[in-house]
Amino acid sequence: MSDTKKLLILAGDGIGPEVMTEVRRVAEWIAKNRTINFDMEDGLVGGAAYDAHGTALDDTTLQKAMDADAVLLGAVGGPKWDDVAREHRPEAGLLALRKEMDLFANLRPATCLPALAEASTLREEVVSGLDIMIVRELTAGVYFGQPRGMQTYEGQERCIDTQSYTKAEIERVTEVAFDLARKRNKLVHSVEKANVMESGIFWRGVVSDMHKNGGYSDIELQHMYADNCAMQLVRNPKQFDVIVTDNLFGDILSDCAAMLTGSLGMLPSASLGAKDANGKAKALYEPVHGSAPDIAGQGMANPLASILSFAMCLRYSFDMGAEADLIENAAQAVLNGGIRTADIMQKGKAKVSTSVMGDSLLREMDKLA
Ligand code: IPM
Ligand code: MN
Repeated sequence: MSDTKKLLILAGDGIGPEVMTEVRRVAEWIAKNRTINFDMEDGLVGGAAYDAHGTALDDTTLQKAMDADAVLLGAVGGPKWDDVAREHRPEAGLLALRKEMDLFANLRPATCLPALAEASTLREEVVSGLDIMIVRELTAGVYFGQPRGMQTYEGQERCIDTQSYTKAEIERVTEVAFDLARKRNKLVHSVEKANVMESGIFWRGVVSDMHKNGGYSDIELQHMYADNCAMQLVRNPKQFDVIVTDNLFGDILSDCAAMLTGSLGMLPSASLGAKDANGKAKALYEPVHGSAPDIAGQGMANPLASILSFAMCLRYSFDMGAEADLIENAAQAVLNGGIRTADIMQKGKAKVSTSVMGDSLLREMDKLA
């Protein structure tokens, strides 16, 4: 008897619905060709949820996300909601999901597929073969620290955000990074601003202690300031294996790393919680790209980042590494075959729509299976 996994699909805004349509087709292919079933349900998040219910994430949807084996998210946001109060903005729905599901470890791989190396704005030899994993802390730091907001101070208006980390918050994300490095090239860069920030000094100390006392002597640990890391990412990105960093630096550095690979439209991500007694963790998978309102509804978005996020779901939530490999290899084959969506278009290649990219990928999966 085959196992049934509950997937909650939150397509969200902009190009989210278009790319998630292709993810659904890939999931259907896996269900048809492998011994697994997916019970897929749709829900609203972001601006779409705000338009329907006046909130970017309602309690029913949150409960469904909590109960699902995995959540697959498209994208949230767009200029349509620019004037909405911050607590109802589309982004607030995503932040609430991360926080409420306690998805503290955000895995953002930046790999440069050979077929796209020349599409990078960096020289081909700098990026070709690149394979970095950024582990971004996702539920603490300045995104959630208190106090925050406007105050009056010495008769002046001022505004505050707070960077805050507990020891446990740093330890649990560090552990994820070390464990990932162990399956890769055994090198971790821990990134902060210990030269300026108290929380940076603390971060560095906690990571060092974990390294020394946590049984990670087989892993090489390097500390790096965040500004230097940004510079090193464009200077010589292949020096990195795993980078672990806080919420805000992780947001910035992962966009930077993403661009090394030729297109933001290619990069998947996984957001994972702690494992429960049965070894299962809450999880949400989403592309790193945003909702791209400028091209939404035109059938030209690249669905590969969302599809590769689903591959991460198979790998990390369902222990289906072989099927994840299959999807990743199929994506490579499609690109090697010269098929491109507009965002990764190169001279002499065939420009296709979102759905034709989906068709091409499924065809390669058939061939490889
Ligand atoms: C990301 C996005 C989000 C973030 C926004 C949409 C809130 O930029 O996932 O990187 O800042 O975390
Ligand atoms: Mn971001």
